[in-house]
Amino acid sequence: MANTLLIGAQWGDEGKGKVVDFLSQNADIVVRYQGGSNAGHTIEIGAERYVLHLVPSGILYPDKTCVIGNGLVIDPVGLVKEIKELNARGIMTAGRLHVSDRAHVVAPYHKAVDAASENKLAVGAKIGTTQRGIGPTYADKANRTGLRMGDLLDPALKTLLAGRLAQKNELLATLGAAPLEAAKVYAEIHEAALFLTPYITDTVKLLNDAYRAKKEILFEGAQGTMLDIDFGTYPFVTSSNPTSGGACVGTGLPPRSVERVLGVIKAYTTRVGEGPFPTELLDATGEGLRKRGREFGATTGRPRRCGWFDAVVGRYSAMVNGVDYWAITKLDVLDEMETIKVCVAYECDGKRHETVPASISILERCKPIYKEFPGWMSPTSQIKRYEDLPVKAKEYVKALCDITGVPLGVLSVSPQRESTFRIAI
Ligand code: GDP
Ligand code: IMO
Ligand code: MG
Repeated sequence: MANTLLIGAQWGDEGKGKVVDFLSQNADIVVRYQGGSNAGHTIEIGAERYVLHLVPSGILYPDKTCVIGNGLVIDPVGLVKEIKELNARGIMTAGRLHVSDRAHVVAPYHKAVDAASENKLAVGAKIGTTQRGIGPTYADKANRTGLRMGDLLDPALKTLLAGRLAQKNELLATLGAAPLEAAKVYAEIHEAALFLTPYITDTVKLLNDAYRAKKEILFEGAQGTMLDIDFGTYPFVTSSNPTSGGACVGTGLPPRSVERVLGVIKAYTTRVGEGPFPTELLDATGEGLRKRGREFGATTGRPRRCGWFDAVVGRYSAMVNGVDYWAITKLDVLDEMETIKVCVAYECDGKRHETVPASISILERCKPIYKEFPGWMSPTSQIKRYEDLPVKAKEYVKALCDITGVPLGVLSVSPQRESTFRIAI
């Protein structure tokens, strides 16, 4: 397999975890490059269901090396919990899970600031974050006041933390939130640091050595293009670059190490949290998608907003990520739809938009221009070969590819590993 970079092409939850798991069988190394435990990547194998937040989705194969890259923000306490849960289920991590010493630490005060800032925002201005401390941790990184995973092993950690916490407690007071206790914060982080010590290493060197040794590398994106801090629906975004450009910065691997980009995209659209969503369905059809697609957040449990496939978003994602192939997921969720709509362009103030406008106020007023497709009205989730899909289902998939200008690489028709068709990659 060529070194493959897998990105989410919509607003997250496209089924990246499932597709990474499927492709991991052909990879040596699976590496996450951005985000943090705001991610929830679900993998279903038979009756077993795993939801991963920080650990790469390749971990379920016992022989794969998994790397948490320097571009992530890591909650050490959450990571320990995730590792222990995996270990308890027989998924061993020692010696094959590596955590970057350059990745930034999400401390308890980052989570407190995240929650308090959201509470303070007026309705309409709220972002609807996962409250995992992502924004405040990336802000500290940019502000050069962050703490890195390598610092956890430093004897000066206690003093360093106390200094940071004093500043954050002042901020928390202005936000009307309770201060945190220095001794408690240190104890929590110190305990996690002791557990994580054998995992923390120079992953930049590790990854580049593997690259030079011609190991197959699979880059696992989290979140999605429309949540990207540069290309997404700013300010209703996350605080990192989930797009393909983020992969090099978040791993230390050079651009040439990425041989192809696979964009994961649902056969319809969902979004969790606030912000514009032109094809959102606030009616029974949207409710039907949520029910059939089991569209509830893997991290926060919030109901996901649902709507029709947005080809404007698809084309835009293909452009900014350089998508070579789509992995289209959740086709089966549309099995009972008599008619399926696809948004081919937007209309705003009498003007037609073929790409996503940067202005949030324009995007909020954009109305989708739809093209209709006949549904196939028959079950697909038990189908094991692409050729056996109903003709109308294949025509719908082809239409999505044609309208967005990207060929089909992978197609998925159920949460299970074996319901994944490898078409062109
Ligand atoms: P991620 O964040 O992109 O990894 O996606 P999530 O795991 O948050 O959400 C995707 C959900 O869809 C998970 O519950 C998956 O088990 C499920 N899923 C993935 N592919 C398919 C599919 O083809 N059909 C159905 N019905 N569910 C799928
Ligand atoms: P995966 O990897 C869906 C959304 C949040 C919120 C915004 C900012 O599972 O696809 P943050 O906590 O990052 O500051 O929240 O981004 N968000 C996600 N939505 N899937 C995700 O990850 C998300 N990670 C963040 O709901 O709107
Ligand atoms: Mg998810």
